[in-house]
Amino acid sequence: MKILDGKKVSQKVRDSIKNEILEIKEKIGKVPGLVVIQVGDNVASKIYVNSKIKQCAEVGIKSTNYILPADVTEEELLSKIEELNKDETIHGILVQLPLPNHIDTPKVIEAIHISKDVDGFKPENLGKVVLGDESALISCTPAGILRLFQEYKIDLEGKDVVVIGRSNIVGKPMTALLINEGATVTICNSKTKEISEKTKTADVVIVAIGSANFLKGDMVKDGAIIIDVGINRNESNKICGDVDFESVKDKASYITPVPGGVGPMTIAMLLNNTLKTFKNGKNI
Ligand code: GUN
Repeated sequence: MKILDGKKVSQKVRDSIKNEILEIKEKIGKVPGLVVIQVGDNVASKIYVNSKIKQCAEVGIKSTNYILPADVTEEELLSKIEELNKDETIHGILVQLPLPNHIDTPKVIEAIHISKDVDGFKPENLGKVVLGDESALISCTPAGILRLFQEYKIDLEGKDVVVIGRSNIVGKPMTALLINEGATVTICNSKTKEISEKTKTADVVIVAIGSANFLKGDMVKDGAIIIDVGINRNESNKICGDVDFESVKDKASYITPVPGGVGPMTIAMLLNNTLKTFKNGKNI
């Protein structure tokens, strides 16, 4: 069994982003700017947002974090986004999800200017991903997983891949990327019947269902490649993924750990998208 080391690969990605930003800064005296908006004080969101901010600093992206109160009105949030859309020093706007129930999430995503959609959540970007258009801003988690496959020279052509989870952020864009790589994809969700009948024959299983230790060793075949997108807390409050690492690791040929697998890759891809939107239209 080999570990797909997201910590190591994401460091390599960050080093390269950092060098590129330094070079551009020397040439034109400007750096990318990212705004991260958080609404309320969801504990998990706070942890993610803090990591994003910290890593922006590491690579030379100027980041600003707005923490709005949980009872902020939709109108106020939309007007903040409008203001940032017009700000030329801002190249990426990220609104951390989930948002409180009184706010219409698709409406908020729609308000972000297409040139600043570093999460890749807008319909146009998801559409471009489906079409295999290279100008797409790809949702960060699926982009990070694809990058891991590339770094470890895992060829997806002809592979049977099972994706568990059908979210707009992970499952749907992941499926499109896999199809474009020539994989045969089965998309499952929490209601899928006899899920292990599907996972047991898969060459690759990607689990993004948000259920601690969901995928067990007896649900996968020998030599399978396992990607764990989950970040959960178990009964003893310890961070664990959607994959029961202990029972799966001896059967897997490759597996991502939690933490240190998909998580750091997701943030590295956010930095990469921010560099991409910064460079767009600058002829660099
Ligand atoms: N919540 C969980 N993952 C993400 C993400 O990648 N982006 C945003 N904006 N919110 C999230």
